[in-house]
Amino acid sequence: MSERLEDIAAAMVANGKGLLAADESSGTIKKRFDVIGVESTPDSRRDYREMMFRASDAMTKYISGVILYDETIHQKAADGTPLVDIIKASGALPGIKVDAGAKPLAGFPGDTITEGLDGLRERLADYYKLGARFAKWRAVIDIDVAKGVPSATSIGSNAHALARYAALCQEAGIVPIVEPEVLMDGAHDIDTCYEISKATLTKLYTELYAARVVLEGTILKPNMVLAGKKSGKVSSPDEVAEKTIKLFRETVPAAIGGIAFLSGGQTDEQATANLNAINAIGPHPWKLTFSYGRALQAAPQKAWSGKPANVAAAQAAFAHRAHMNHLAALGQWQPTLEQAA
Ligand code: 13P
Repeated sequence: MSERLEDIAAAMVANGKGLLAADESSGTIKKRFDVIGVESTPDSRRDYREMMFRASDAMTKYISGVILYDETIHQKAADGTPLVDIIKASGALPGIKVDAGAKPLAGFPGDTITEGLDGLRERLADYYKLGARFAKWRAVIDIDVAKGVPSATSIGSNAHALARYAALCQEAGIVPIVEPEVLMDGAHDIDTCYEISKATLTKLYTELYAARVVLEGTILKPNMVLAGKKSGKVSSPDEVAEKTIKLFRETVPAAIGGIAFLSGGQTDEQATANLNAINAIGPHPWKLTFSYGRALQAAPQKAWSGKPANVAAAQAAFAHRAHMNHLAALGQWQPTLEQAA
């Protein structure tokens, strides 16, 4: 496969394939394992991820790349094969989360700044040697209008950090996924999500230009435009699609390598229905696919529950969600396909 950044980026969003975000930090995966009653240890995390990466039906047909956590990119399967080699054998690209997490932004209660730039050049060189060809950095923008969150300082600082990260990735031959996540956790309405997302994306691309990042060799990982969970409203797929595409047409250059959404706390089926509605109103200047964590893994985690006897059922649950999202990335999903499962 080509090593050119724009070719790697194009492959990440090609043919209705999408990304499996399996880069949960040790703290986050523990929360997920708590739900299914599995103790989180290096071995149980390895067993779980090995089960996913060996789900060859899902991996070969629907998954273009896997975002890994630092621990996982170094791990070997139970039989000694590096997990990275299992991913590559399926035809998918290994990727790596390189940010060090969102920390409170000093002076701005409720806002966060994502850390991890110090030493990043050296870490990227190591990850490249381990096989990573793309990376991820997630900025977190919460919404609490009454408290003045997010501040312009938070949006600006996070956009600047994303641009510095992206430039370092490209220097290392690694495609940066730039993820400015506007959270759906708040009580805001859909139009507030639209306005905050617009301010965020406008600032992001200003900073990426200023940092001389080659847009063709980047992937945007955005939120969809949705009402906040605490608003008590669930936006319809048609409204999500219309407002998300209006936003991107206003703010996202056509030159970028592609768009791969986060699921952000939507239900599995919402994440699929919304992606489908977005693609169904195309054609669009970009490929729009999925880079889901929870919306691809909740079902297989439940089916697995830490038991070797459940591996085949868990792999089938993963294949089903990956298939549904693949169809949604092509605008060909229908609700009746869920009942047939
Ligand atoms: P979710 O799809 O669970 O939001 O996770 C995607 C991700 O990688 C967030 O950074």
